[in-house]
Amino acid sequence: MARSRPAILLSVALAAVAVMALAPAPTAATKYNITKLLEPYKQYSKFNEMLSKTRLAYDINRRQTITVLAVDNAAMAALDHYSLQTIRHILSLHVLVDYYGDKKLKKLDHGSTASSSMYQATGSASGMSGYVNITRKDGKVSFTTDDADENAKPSRYVKSIKEYPYDIAVLEVSSIISSADAEAPVPPPAPVDLVELLSKKYCKSFASLLSANADVFRTFNETKDNGLTIFCPVDAAVAAFAAAYKNLTAKAKAAILLYHGAPDYFSLQLLKSNNGMVTTLATASEKKQDYSYDVKNKGETVTLQTEVVTSTVTATVGDMEPLAVYAVDKFLKPKELFKVVEAPAPAPEPSKKKGRVSDGGDDSSSDDSGDATADKGDAAPAALLARRVTAAATVVAAYALMMA
Ligand SMILES: *[C@@H]1O[C@H](CO)[C@@H](O)[C@H](O)[C@H]1NC(C)=O
Ligand SMILES: *[C@@H]1O[C@H](CO)[C@@H](O)[C@H](O)[C@H]1NC(C)=O
Ligand SMILES: *[C@@H]1O[C@H](CO)[C@@H](O)[C@H](O)[C@H]1NC(C)=O
Ligand SMILES: *[C@@H]1O[C@H](CO)[C@@H](O)[C@H](O)[C@H]1NC(C)=O
Repeated sequence: MARSRPAILLSVALAAVAVMALAPAPTAATKYNITKLLEPYKQYSKFNEMLSKTRLAYDINRRQTITVLAVDNAAMAALDHYSLQTIRHILSLHVLVDYYGDKKLKKLDHGSTASSSMYQATGSASGMSGYVNITRKDGKVSFTTDDADENAKPSRYVKSIKEYPYDIAVLEVSSIISSADAEAPVPPPAPVDLVELLSKKYCKSFASLLSANADVFRTFNETKDNGLTIFCPVDAAVAAFAAAYKNLTAKAKAAILLYHGAPDYFSLQLLKSNNGMVTTLATASEKKQDYSYDVKNKGETVTLQTEVVTSTVTATVGDMEPLAVYAVDKFLKPKELFKVVEAPAPAPEPSKKKGRVSDGGDDSSSDDSGDATADKGDAAPAALLARRVTAAATVVAAYALMMA
């Protein structure tokens, strides 16, 4: 039996309040990888590919208790004429931020329920759009929205693809869910001028280093639209490192610059709540070289630990998903190029060779065993409580900037 419309609207409103109370959405452990999960099923390869292209896969992996409504390759043709930004909106409607396994769908209370989707959660949706109405009638389950095209066929539940109760359910639905709001044209994001962005705050010198190296700059510039986090050393840190930098070979210079970029978007919130290894643009450019570092957080402070140096995030220069730029107080020295500094001993002996610059880019053989393999999805549950920060702007004071 279906509930009356007012009752449904009330439950939708209550759900909205609940969602708002939770904001910002908790960044959960990366327990499942949706891309990998769908990989064996070739009939959903287009859907899977689009999850990656729109970067929704990344958002899905960050969440817990989620239902993904996949369509087969034939049904994906309905998205052909939309821009990537619009496709992101439409597909985010296919990610319900609650768990609906096969069993739950077949026993739907009152025959109908409204679920908040990721489209609603991202804040792009207006009004009630972003909610998906799940209805069971005559044994058939369908997914519709309030602002669906009148002529659109309801998207029907076909079958369950994969379920991990109560973390993630991946279901097949017969067609793309119709929603006028989600299908509306989305203006493309304003182009970001990397040099301008970095120069505006804290990182003018680092911007100069980047623009002086055409290949490196191109790599940063080409990655910025697909997920990129730059840890830019503040001007004082670049000045302090200038002499050592000059001593590096051209190859090592390129590697160390690339080392300051991670080919993924990390919000400050994510950095503050997750400990683990970050691979960098240098990792991808240098075969068989690790070029990663440890992100560690303590309270509100995020540090990057390379085993040579520990650099602290001091400010947000820009946060415009899929690009994030954070100022750090020290130049990041990779263990692939510099001598590893042992953990501080109780009685440190005067070290003669600390920070020695190697002239090659390949003397890391002795460090190989030290490579950590921790998963970057390692969440620290205790940090969840400390994360009720409404604005990502609450940053540690940029004390490093005051250094000469
Ligand atoms: C998820 O799986 C895909 C395909 O196996 C892989 O390319 C990607 O790196 C994985 N993502 C993460 C965050 O592990
Ligand atoms: C959801 O489905 C029920 C049952 O068909 C219907 O009464 C209700 O109006 C629908 N609500 C929305 C928001 O589409
Ligand atoms: C950087 O990328 C943008 C596209 O995002 C492009 O318009 C611009 O020309 C690129 N800049 C350089 C110097 O390659
Ligand atoms: C740069 O190299 C020269 C010559 O090898 C050396 O004397 C100098 O100490 C090095 N400077 C730095 C900062 O490493």
